[in-house]
Amino acid sequence: MERPRTIRKVTPPVTLVAPPPIPRAAGSLPVLGHAVQLMRDNLGFIASLRARYGPLVEIRLQPGIRTLVVQDPDLIRTMLTDLGPSLDKGRFFEKMGQLLGDSVVTASGRPHVHRRRRLQPAFARPEIARYVAVMRRRTDTAVDRWRPGRRLDVHRAMADLSLDMLVRTVFSGSLDDEAFRRVRENLSTVMRGVGLRVVLPDWAERLPLPHNRRFEAARAAVRTTVTRAVADLEATGHDTGDMLSLMLRSPDEETGRPLTGDQIASEILTLAVAGTETTASVLSWALYELARHPDAEARLLAELRQALGERPVAFEDLPRLAYLRRVVDEVLRLHHTGWLVTRRTVTETSLGPWTVPAGTELAYCQHALHRDPALFPHPLRFDPDRWLDSAQPSPSHAFLPFGAGKHKCVGDRFAVTEVMTALATIVRRVRLEPPRGRPVRPVAQATVRPRSLVMTVRRRAAPPVRPAA
Ligand code: HEM
Repeated sequence: MERPRTIRKVTPPVTLVAPPPIPRAAGSLPVLGHAVQLMRDNLGFIASLRARYGPLVEIRLQPGIRTLVVQDPDLIRTMLTDLGPSLDKGRFFEKMGQLLGDSVVTASGRPHVHRRRRLQPAFARPEIARYVAVMRRRTDTAVDRWRPGRRLDVHRAMADLSLDMLVRTVFSGSLDDEAFRRVRENLSTVMRGVGLRVVLPDWAERLPLPHNRRFEAARAAVRTTVTRAVADLEATGHDTGDMLSLMLRSPDEETGRPLTGDQIASEILTLAVAGTETTASVLSWALYELARHPDAEARLLAELRQALGERPVAFEDLPRLAYLRRVVDEVLRLHHTGWLVTRRTVTETSLGPWTVPAGTELAYCQHALHRDPALFPHPLRFDPDRWLDSAQPSPSHAFLPFGAGKHKCVGDRFAVTEVMTALATIVRRVRLEPPRGRPVRPVAQATVRPRSLVMTVRRRAAPPVRPAA
């Protein structure tokens, strides 16, 4: 007799799909980790990871400490925004802290909130509007010195101009530019040193090598110059109403006591580094790309002619200069200055489907992200029109020129305003001839900049621009 068939309902076992293991990038050595590849070509190495690995890949900068390079744009946003408040700043900022001391860029948590609040008034919209005329005049003064036919070290000229614009706006009343000029002289040595210290194991810093000695001497010189300038102003008791006076007047929100000279020097140095290394590179690359793309330069000149006629650019003009804005965005994409922005987990942390332990370094590379062909078609092509609303697909979700979340650049509006103002002023007065031969290569120190950019100055033919009053 056939047994009656019983039908049993079977509930499938609940299986949680484990995320794939995080790969380690090939070529890591026992003590040096990936230092050899990074020393040889840091930008190239980090960029190569995007093509070879998925959303997360591990590299070794330091024995025993994992650094996860976050490559997926959504995960990067999660790291910066949702996880932002619970993460420390990580290795890059720790090394910057050797120069800057304790400041808004190295701080996290509540101390960061206090420090950031202190800086924000200098970057509010009404202040920026006031700065434009100063930025334009400083640019005119710089261009006055460029003799036609002369070969100009464009990056150096833009570094001087960026510093000049910052000193005459945010620090208008108190810091004399001689102090800042002395800072500049030593800054490139220190920035090179910071870039190197990010990629080398910590023990290499303690070796009695010439580059370590140069770094220490330059760091000491920079800090002494700024600390002395702060002490001088404090001694006069003069309130100039600028950022430095504001810091001298406002108490430390954490302790209620006045800020020490050392604390103020750290914040000033931070603005000098964050606000000039970046802008100088963006301006340099913009002039380079315009020189290499006469059609783009002609469109820009036509826009400026139509919007301004012969008068100099003013704050109110900037929103109407749509092509100029697209040129700036395209330079921020193609030549971003950030190559390894870091964070560090303080507790076990979920990042997408992965769980990473406390003490893990997280990092992302804007330069490589903005050149990913899956996100930005023909990424090496300089194409300001990719930012037109009609351009498909819109690449903006992976575009992070000023970061995101609570550490988003405090000077973003200032930076875009000064770059637009300077470009609108320079291109109407002079034409810069691009260097002959091979394209200019980027080099990553603490930030990414042109390795060497020398262009020949030519006077722009008609129509002349009436010099700014
Ligand atoms: C085009 C030029 C600039 C670029 C591309 C740029 C980019 C950035 C980025 C990506 C960050 C976020 C870093 C992070 O996620 O930890 C940042 C932070 C910062 N930037 Fe800028 N920046 C520029 C200009 C400026 C200027 C002109 C200033 C000030 C004068 C400035 C001051 C700062 C400061 C103080 C921070 C730290 C903010 C915080 O942690 O709360 N930057 N910048």
